[in-house]
This record gives sequence, C-alpha cells and structure tokens, in this order.
Amino acid sequence: MAQKIIVTGGAGYIGTHTTVELQKAGFDVVVFDNFINSDPSSLDGVQRITGTKPELERVDCADDVAIADAFAKHSDAVGVIHFAALKAVGESVEKPLMYYQNNIRGLMNVLDNMNKHGIANIVFSSSATVYGVPDVLPVTEETPLKPATSPYGQTKVMGENIISDAVRANPNMRATLLRYFNPVGAHPSAEIGELPLGTPNNLLPYLTQTAAGIREVLSVFGDDYDTPDGFCVRDYIDINDLASAHVAALKHMLGGANGVNIFNLGTGRGVSVMELIKTFQDATGVKLNYKIAARRPGDVPAIWADATLANKVLGWRANVPLADTLRNAWKWQVKVCEKNN
Ligand code: NAD
Ligand code: UD1
Repeated sequence: MAQKIIVTGGAGYIGTHTTVELQKAGFDVVVFDNFINSDPSSLDGVQRITGTKPELERVDCADDVAIADAFAKHSDAVGVIHFAALKAVGESVEKPLMYYQNNIRGLMNVLDNMNKHGIANIVFSSSATVYGVPDVLPVTEETPLKPATSPYGQTKVMGENIISDAVRANPNMRATLLRYFNPVGAHPSAEIGELPLGTPNNLLPYLTQTAAGIREVLSVFGDDYDTPDGFCVRDYIDINDLASAHVAALKHMLGGANGVNIFNLGTGRGVSVMELIKTFQDATGVKLNYKIAARRPGDVPAIWADATLANKVLGWRANVPLADTLRNAWKWQVKVCEKNN
C-alpha cells in the first residue's frame, strides 16, 4: 500500500507542485489547508496533471481542536510536509501577532499531533531569509544566521529552532529543514502555478503581470548595488525542481536519516534582476515595460546558494534552465488571464 503523506498548505504555490511530485513518486497525499491564501480549484489542476485528486481536509493548522481531529483521521501517515504559513513580509510587520499565531501555533499543533500519533518525519519550509545579509557568498548551511528583520523571517528562525528542540527531545523523530532561495515558475502544463492575491510583492509575478498588461510598469529596485551590473542578485530556483527536492528529503528520512538535516535549495547561480528581465524577454519574445526605481528598503544586495550538500546527500540538483522556467511562468500567466476574461 502507498505510504501516506500529510501536506499542510498543499493547495498553495509550492504545495501543489510538491503534491504532483509526491503522487508521481507513488505517495498517497492528503492536503490540510484552510485556503487563506489559495483556492480549492488548485487541487483540480493537480488532478489534471497526475490523474489523482489528493484527499483534502479543510482545516486551520492553528485551530487546536480541528487539527487534532484531522490528524486523528490520518494517523497512519508516515510523514508531514509543513508548508502552511502566511508569507508576506510587509504584512507581517503590520500584523506580527497574526503571523506568530498562524505560523508558530500552526507548527506547534502539527508537532504535537505528530508526537501523539507517532508520525516521525517532518519537512519544514524555511527560507534563505534566515541568512540575512551574508558576509560571504555563496551561502552554505554553515553560514551564520542573522537576526530576522521581520516577524515573517522570525517565524522561520523560530520554526527551525522549535523543530530542532522537538527532535532533540524525541529520538524517534526526524526533521528536514529546507531553506528555499527564490522559487519561481509554474508547472510546464500550466495547470498549476503561483496565484498571488492582490498586488504581488515578489519580482516574478509582478513581472509577468506587467508583461500581460495588468500592471503598467515593473519598477526595478536599485541599479547602484555593489554587484557586477549594479542590480540585486538572487538565486531563482524552478518550482518543479524545488518540489522534487521535497520528495528526495522525505525519502532520505524514510530511508533512516536521523536527527535534523538542513539543506539549501537553490541553483548555485546568482542572477541579477536585469539578467532575469533580459532572459524573460529573449525566452518569450515579449517586451517588458520596466523602469529603474529607488532601492527597496530591507533588500539584500546579493545572495545565492551553495547547494552542494543537497546534491551530495539527497542526490538532488536543480536542472531546469532559467529560460524554460520563465517560459512556464509566462504560459501560466497567459492562462490565468484567459480564465479571468
Ligand atoms: P502559499 O501562500 O501559496 O501557500 C501556503 C498555503 O498554506 C496556502 O494554501 C494557504 O491557504 C495555506 N495556509 C496558510 N496558513 C494556514 C493554516 N493556518 N492552516 C491551513 N492552511 C494554511 O505559499 P507558498 O509560496 O506555497 O509557500 C509555502 C511555504 O514555503 C510557506 O511556509 C512559505 O513561508 C515558505 N516559503 C516560500 C517562499 C516563496 O518564495 N514562495 C520562499 C521561502 C519560504
Ligand atoms: C522576498 C522576501 C523574503 C521571502 C521571499 C520569498 C523581502 C525583503 N524579502 O525575498 O523574506 O522569503 O521574498 O517570498 O521582502 N524586485 C524588483 N521589483 C519588484 C519586485 C522585486 O526589482 O517589483 C527585485 C528585488 O529588489 C529583489 C528581487 O527582485 O532584488 C527579488 O525580489 P522578491 O521576489 O521580492 O524576493 P526577495 O526580496 O529575494
């Protein structure tokens, strides 16, 4: 019988792509989501790709009673991938308690219920944000962490610490903390992709919405950084590559890897905002309206991953070329526009 995995936040951007990869790998997926930042129809997209709709529990991870009921129903699961969290940095500064309540309480409830039912394996969505402005590039998992600059970032640092303490106290438990760099793109089928609500804060959805004429112009934040071309540098990782890393992490734990394992998930290549814009234009043939604007406060000038550890230990590496990723993002954007018209 297939092994069951609980995917919290499984209806969201990374969760849907990971559900596809889990199903392809033969796992039985049950999604726990309260749709605070997604729509149930995203799971229809998953079904159109894999032929199987994941089982769904409409549940808030921060609701102690409801989440206990959901876990009791699925106590035969062998692992949890915990995506469920709020993720808007600016909003977290305005509403810190909402972020701690949702992200920290949700995580604590998940860990409590895992302990209660003897579910041993958890994969946690962390972020490169834990490295702050790094002193040395690229960053490895050994790079010192910097104090978080937002409540959102704080929930990731705290989440890593809470899980590490929980594993230390329970030798039967295993965890993998995945530090994502910048996830971008969509499934090549354009059945699933990123669906930001309102005005996007992140570069790629803003870029594709501008290319589609929904936004007038993309502001490029800063051209005077101490980087090769003066623009901010990031490590943009294809969403399908990112998703498959979760399957690799899970198999690593199910294969017996003990304790807490931490991996950077990136391509190992830094790409500037201008390089990304040019690659998008070349890959899609679409001309983008952009202007140079002031630096965005709080931006890290440059960060990219050393992903050697994940390559070595998980046998995983990022494969999809950036041009393909950007073409997939554009195909998804076009489809979303067609649906909305
Ligand atoms: P997303 O908002 O698309 O998906 C999150 C999902 O979790 C949504 O479906 C939402 O409805 C659900 N959710 C939120 N709170 C919940 C709760 N209390 N109970 C049940 N469901 C809840 O976000 P995403 O981009 O897929 O991010 C997934 C995870 O990865 C998050 O933890 C995020 O912080 C982390 N992360 C994302 C990025 C990124 O750039 N997308 C980068 C680093 C880390
Ligand atoms: C941001 C968050 C980070 C979070 C990540 C994923 C901040 C300071 N950091 O990272 O905590 O984990 O998103 O959700 O918010 N850019 C433009 N114009 C735009 C938008 C972005 O030029 O309209 C530039 C930015 O200056 C940056 C790059 O594009 O250099 C990527 O920005 P973004 O997609 O917001 O991601 P991060 O800032 O890396």
